Amino acid sequence: MFSRRFWAVALCTFVVIVTVGGGPTAAEEDRSPKNLQFFPKDMKREDLIPLMRNFSFALGVACTHCHGTEEQTGFNLSGVDFSLDIKPAKEKARSMLRMTDEINKKLLAPIPASSLDLKVRCFTCHSGLPLPESIEDRVLRKIYAKGIDSAIEDYRAVREDYHGSAAYNFLQQPLVEVASALHGDGQYKEAAAISKLNLEFHPESGQSRFRLAEAYFQLGDKESARRTYREILSVRPEDKRVLARLEELGDTQP
Ligand code: HEC
Ligand code: HEC
Repeated sequence: MFSRRFWAVALCTFVVIVTVGGGPTAAEEDRSPKNLQFFPKDMKREDLIPLMRNFSFALGVACTHCHGTEEQTGFNLSGVDFSLDIKPAKEKARSMLRMTDEINKKLLAPIPASSLDLKVRCFTCHSGLPLPESIEDRVLRKIYAKGIDSAIEDYRAVREDYHGSAAYNFLQQPLVEVASALHGDGQYKEAAAISKLNLEFHPESGQSRFRLAEAYFQLGDKESARRTYREILSVRPEDKRVLARLEELGDTQP
């Protein structure tokens, strides 16, 4: 259901609510924000915290991703001075606030809105990741940087960590696109490996089976290509591309 990361963020925000709850004591007044550069300077802490929880949720990070000293990480908030600007992520978040504001107020506003009148939010792009990279881009980046085995290992680990979250799409389509891109780049061995990986999680994926057969075909592995095209044909007997390939391979049996 929810990842460890999700609960960690939920727990962290719960602790914060407990900490800031209660009446406006002198100590509370003391904790009013001192270093707001985007939000109104006199914004109350209790109005700010829900926005902060939203940042954490949208990026799938703890408060200390942006706050505290370099030594202060994870979910322990004791001693964290939120007014300091130490971590680059905090300044980036300010730029992101300005950017999101500009998108909504300047760029989106003149476009006739749907009945839902939606706005761009942090989550619209980030969907639970600090760096909003799609799984396709991630897999391709890993393949070109570290090779296919390492990329597949990374995919498995990420799938384990994020399955069921909005962060990455683990349906069949992204890896079909990756295999397709690799094929276009002449990386047939890699395309075959990615298609096999996809078939492991989506055994019914006709698109992946076709990508695999095509990779075998290009690699000159005629027997594997023929067998794989045949498997597709057993589900889609009329598939013209597959029939043409089988003919090329000299397999003309009905
Ligand atoms: C993605 C980065 C990011 C995350 C995550 C984040 N914050 Fe912030 N926080 C900011 C930025 C940026 C500001 C300053 C906003 C401004 O300049 O108007 C800020 C300001 C604050 C302030 C006001 C500090 C002051 O005195 O000026 C508090 C308190 C705060 N955050 C608490 C939290 C808590 C608690 C969490 C976790 C639930 C959290 N933040 C998560 C970016 C973040
Ligand atoms: C239009 C899409 C979009 C929106 C909306 C958006 N971001 Fe980003 N954000 C990005 C992209 C893309 C990057 C990565 C840029 C890069 O590679 O450095 C990023 C990077 C960041 C980073 C740096 C993360 C890191 O760990 O280095 C922070 C912090 C951040 N965004 C916060 C926010 C917050 C807070 C909001 C909402 C106020 C927001 N973003 C809204 C697209 C967006």
